[in-house]
Parts: sequence; C-alpha cells; structure tokens
Amino acid sequence: MDKPLAGRTALITGASKGLGKAMALALGAAGARLVLVSRDLPQLEQTAAAARERGAEAHVFRADVSREDEVRELEKQVTAAGHRVNILINNAGINVRKQVTEFTLDEWRSVMDTNLTAVFLLCRSFVPRMKGQGYGRILNMTSIMSHVSIPGRTAYSASKSGLLGFTRALALELASENITVVGISPGPFATEMNTALMQNPELNQQFISRIPLGRWGRVEEIGQLAVYLCSEEAGFLTGTDILIDGGWCAQ
Ligand SMILES: NC(=O)c1ccc[n+]([C@@H]2O[C@H](COP(=O)([O-])OP(=O)(O)OC[C@H]3O[C@@H](n4cnc5c(N)ncnc54)[C@H](OP(=O)(O)O)[C@@H]3O)[C@@H](O)[C@H]2O)c1
Repeated sequence: MDKPLAGRTALITGASKGLGKAMALALGAAGARLVLVSRDLPQLEQTAAAARERGAEAHVFRADVSREDEVRELEKQVTAAGHRVNILINNAGINVRKQVTEFTLDEWRSVMDTNLTAVFLLCRSFVPRMKGQGYGRILNMTSIMSHVSIPGRTAYSASKSGLLGFTRALALELASENITVVGISPGPFATEMNTALMQNPELNQQFISRIPLGRWGRVEEIGQLAVYLCSEEAGFLTGTDILIDGGWCAQ
C-alpha cells in the first residue's frame, strides 16, 4: 500500500533530532499524522517542516518527558487539540558515560528518569486513550545495552534493560486490546548522542571494529523498521525486541 499508516496518529518523543526525527519523517511519509514532542520547540519545528514537505500533517508540543507534571500537561494539550493517538513511540533518551564510582545521584536519576520513568509516565497518560480503538502500537527505544554492555554504561544499561522488561510486561497487559508493544534495540547509530565518540579517532575506530558490518548505523535505517512495526502486517509481533545493530550482539 502507498500510505500504510494513513488514518493513524503517532506521538513520537525526542523527535527534534536523531532517530526520533528519522522515525517521524518515515511515519509521516507513510501517511501517519505526527504529534512531535521534545524540550526544544524550534528544533521540533524543523522536523515538522521537513515532514510537511514530504506531505505529512505534523504538530509540535514542548515537554520534558521526565517530569510528571509536564507529561500530564502534554496529555491535556494533545487531547484538547483533538489528536487521538494510536501509535506511541517512546524514543527520548540520554546517556551519561562514566564509571559507577564517578556518578552523582542526580546524574543517575536523570538517566533513569528520561530513559525509563518517562516511558511509564507517557504510557500511563496515553494508554487509556489508545484503548478501544482496535489497533495500537507502542515502540520503545531500547538498546543493544538492554542485552549486553560495555564499561561506563551502568546507568544507561540499567535503564534500557529495565525498559525491555517494561516492554514485555506491558505487552501482556495490552494484548487483549490489540495494542502491541515492541522494543527497538539499535546498535551504534550516527546521531548527536554519539558525536563525541565519532569525533575521537581512537574511540571511533574502537566502535567500528566491534561492529561486524564495519560502520555506524544510518538514521534512515530505523525509519523503515518503525513503519513496518506500526503496519497491520506486524500485528503478531508483541512483547519482543528487534535488534538493529550491524551484528554487534551476534558476537
Ligand atoms: N544513537 C544510538 O546509537 C542509539 C543506540 C541505542 C539506543 N538509542 C536510543 O535511541 C533514542 C534516540 O537516540 P538518538 O541517538 O537519536 O539521540 P539524540 O540524537 O541525542 O536525541 C535524543 C532525543 O531525545 C530528546 N530528549 C532527551 N531528553 C528529553 C526529555 N527529558 N524530554 C523530552 N525529550 C528529551 C531530545 O530532545 P530535546 O533535546 O529537543 O529535548 C532528542 O530529540 C534514545 O532513547 C537512545 O537511548 C540510540
């Protein structure tokens, strides 16, 4: 079908850049109405403009998804604007890379709050509105660090492993509503989150040497996977996690 997601409304967090922006452009091109969320309205507007150029309808909402009050307010605003969300993509995320002994409690909490608690807050707000539609998709951005790890990733790995458990449990809760819940576990992708690593020749080489395909992932490669997972054809996939990692976890 030309527009497999026509008639669907997708709320995507962290849509201002990186993987979130790429998924927004791909879902918009596939016909979904876009509800784009991050803390940076001007950047979000750029994503929305790019999506509209490709023929999509796109709306932007500012929210810090790690904050309970802001997610409640987002729920109110999105609902008041008449958007009936049936695709929720929990993509916003951060990484703090350091040894466990170097972490402050605030840094630890910021990773947990953004990568894990925010997903709970968004699901608590939007799942009740997704029920009763006979169709729903929740995609959670997990990570290869939900499956394996490397030094300096305690908080990130803990948050993403927790998110994988959350994904499985929520899939069971929502199966009777025909709302599927799936994780997407990217390996290293060329986004702002990894700019510092990519710009350090030694670290860049270290990463590439660990990726069997020998390169960083390209953001467009996530977009089409998300479109498939939101399609009717992916309706039997739930409570599971798709690795898109250039072979990292196969080793
Ligand atoms: N890139 C990779 O290699 C990779 C690998 C595995 C998993 N992932 C996961 O994929 C997701 C996207 O990563 P990315 O590489 O695209 O990262 P990125 O380029 O750094 O973008 C992160 C996005 O999250 C948003 N965000 C962060 N904190 C937020 C908050 N408190 N409230 C609202 N939005 C917030 C940012 O928006 P604003 O700054 O505009 O608020 C931005 O849009 C993350 O969950 C990440 O952990 C990435």
